[in-house]
Amino acid sequence: MRSLEQVLADGIRDIPDYPQPGVVFKDITPLLADHTGFTQVVEALAAAGTDDDGNPVVDKVVGIEARGFILAAPVALALGAGFVPVRKKGKLPAATYEESYALEYGEATIEVHQDAFAPGDRVLVIDDVLATGGTVEACLRLIRRCGAEVAGTAVLLELSFLPGRKRLEGETLTSLLTV
Ligand code: PRP
Repeated sequence: MRSLEQVLADGIRDIPDYPQPGVVFKDITPLLADHTGFTQVVEALAAAGTDDDGNPVVDKVVGIEARGFILAAPVALALGAGFVPVRKKGKLPAATYEESYALEYGEATIEVHQDAFAPGDRVLVIDDVLATGGTVEACLRLIRRCGAEVAGTAVLLELSFLPGRKRLEGETLTSLLTV
């Protein structure tokens, strides 16, 4: 079996100048197409929702639109937990809470259904990339507004040249790969 490190090296490719000149996009589609690699990554992310003996300790797994959905749904199944989507504004049909965060130019808003969690639910947040941390930070605010408890956040890839980890100081944060 390949190491997790090798799986990530094999499956994440750099796409220069996407979506705009000067940006190097981290494309995870080769990883998703690799069954054994995807399986290993899901297991590694799911470990963030277990105790020292490997027993699941979360009730819900949140996936952040869009690539977070792809990773969070199988993690939820692996942990025997429910899946909750956090979506960009205007996409969820029932009553929502919303939180906004700053982008380089302007702001973005994400939402969750108000009844997505039972009071005191323990929640693991999953996303593909941690960059500035604004998205995850807003997501944690949403979960807490719902009366649920954040158990931790796990991402595939952390961009260490951006202040995401610093912004989430005091939170439990797992990243499978830091570049
Ligand atoms: C990307 C990525 C994270 C977020 C990280 O999502 O998937 O959710 O940005 O950035 P941050 O740490 O600076 O907040 P994007 O908004 O591009 O959405 P997409 O997955 O729908 O393409």
